[in-house]
Amino acid sequence: MDWVDKRERVKRHIVHNILEITRFTPTSNPVKIVVLGASDKRYIEIHRNIFREVIKMDPEMTTFDIDTHHLAGEEGIVQHDVTKPFPSSFDIVFSHSLLKFIEPERQVAVLRNSHNSLKTNGLAMHILHCVDTPRRWQYKVDADKMVSKLAEENIPCKKIVLDIDNGTEVLVTQKGR
Ligand SMILES: C[S@@+](CC[C@H](N)C(=O)[O-])C[C@H]1O[C@@H](n2cnc3c(N)ncnc32)[C@H](O)[C@@H]1O
Repeated sequence: MDWVDKRERVKRHIVHNILEITRFTPTSNPVKIVVLGASDKRYIEIHRNIFREVIKMDPEMTTFDIDTHHLAGEEGIVQHDVTKPFPSSFDIVFSHSLLKFIEPERQVAVLRNSHNSLKTNGLAMHILHCVDTPRRWQYKVDADKMVSKLAEENIPCKKIVLDIDNGTEVLVTQKGR
């Protein structure tokens, strides 16, 4: 089993848990989902399959990435820097191990932009595997600090801790009716 296969299992497990805990139920058709950053082409189909399985309908998938060359030929790829406001709105925003690639002072913008792009009843989930010590080229992500910063902007954000993959934290915001 290679790294991408392992990640698929972890992603599936986390997405199932978060949608259950937040009691997310789709109210749009199609359900519009955006993934923030994908380092490998194979993730595009994996993300679609996981969400199709969980929401039990065919989602309309978009992937934003600052660099799209490695994703050429895949469906729904949009070049976009997610520290900038999103160009459209979504039912679900999903990021997995993205924030550690963003400088700490710009990390909160990703959460703010995600939340602001949500449609009514929408859900944004940002998966952090913060138990890992960041590598030399990665940044630390302080989940509690981000929750406080968002609270100052009246964006309620919850940190959900899951016993998956040696400890996973997920930052979640939801858009009320
Ligand atoms: C999200 S991650 C790693 C994902 C991880 N391998 C997984 O399990 O899905 C890395 C990707 O994020 C992209 N990225 C980094 N900074 C970004 C930004 N500011 N806006 C959009 N994409 C970004 C990179 O180009 C890269 O393709």
